[in-house]
Amino acid sequence: MTRTVYLNGEYLPENEAKVSIFDRGFLMADGVYEVTSVLGGKLIDFDGHAVRLNRSLDELDMNNPISKEDLLEVHRELVRENKIVDGMIYLQITRGAPDDRDFVFPDPETTPQTIVLFTQNKPGLANSPVAKVGIKVISIEDARWGRRDIKTVQLLYPSMGKMMAKKAGADDAWMVEDGFVTEGTSNNAYIVKGNKIITRALSNDILHGITRAAVLRFAKEAQMEVEERNFTIEEAMQADEAFITSASTFVMPVVEIDGAQLGDRTPGKVAPRLREIYLEESIKKAI
Ligand code: PDD
Repeated sequence: MTRTVYLNGEYLPENEAKVSIFDRGFLMADGVYEVTSVLGGKLIDFDGHAVRLNRSLDELDMNNPISKEDLLEVHRELVRENKIVDGMIYLQITRGAPDDRDFVFPDPETTPQTIVLFTQNKPGLANSPVAKVGIKVISIEDARWGRRDIKTVQLLYPSMGKMMAKKAGADDAWMVEDGFVTEGTSNNAYIVKGNKIITRALSNDILHGITRAAVLRFAKEAQMEVEERNFTIEEAMQADEAFITSASTFVMPVVEIDGAQLGDRTPGKVAPRLREIYLEESIKKAI
């Protein structure tokens, strides 16, 4: 089936949606993105993603070319048009396509931004069999730029990190800077010791995950202890459990770090329980 996508105000078949070779997203990774999951035909935490989108745009001195209400309508129209029950909506906004390549930002009055949205169909997204067995991660150096709190489309290093993991027979990589874990290539990282959930505090070093915010809130409501602080790979290897969170994986248990198994190499109790609560509560609030 040909997907219907959204490009600069128009709904088009995917093969008719064309962007200029001078687009700054293409030439300079001068763009930001969001990924919102869809479960049962409804959007999970749309508000959170809309707020973070605005923040990313502000931090890069870019205008937001679309109101929150219109953005919601585009998301919903794409879900309807493409008959998405479970899946994701990818959104990207770039600084647009000036007449030529130039490091200097173009005048936003004469260079409109490029806005693209498309759907990804993932039937049974919330029932991933992987969540029952958990994933393996390796550690790699964090070689990204210093503003990881901005959700830019510069994803080359995270993509290389995924490939390093794949080559090592693992599923993902946790990045390490100055001896401490920052985050996963496309997710936030956590360890569990007893009843305590430990995850790096928010700063420019990591993306402020929308799933992270919800999961930490639900954990506190369920009387679990949350400690926002740095941790090392060595500490992680000694943890009872570990997990990652993101809009597309929700809460995903980690059972092996750099070849060391956690607990009895099964997902444990805390991560599966948090996954259950997260899915239940988020689906209730989906719009
Ligand atoms: N990635 N950290 C990084 C580096 C990420 O790329 C992501 C999301 C997260 C989790 O954020 P959230 O909970 O808001 O999805 C953390 C998306 C899913 C992606 O690139 O596909």
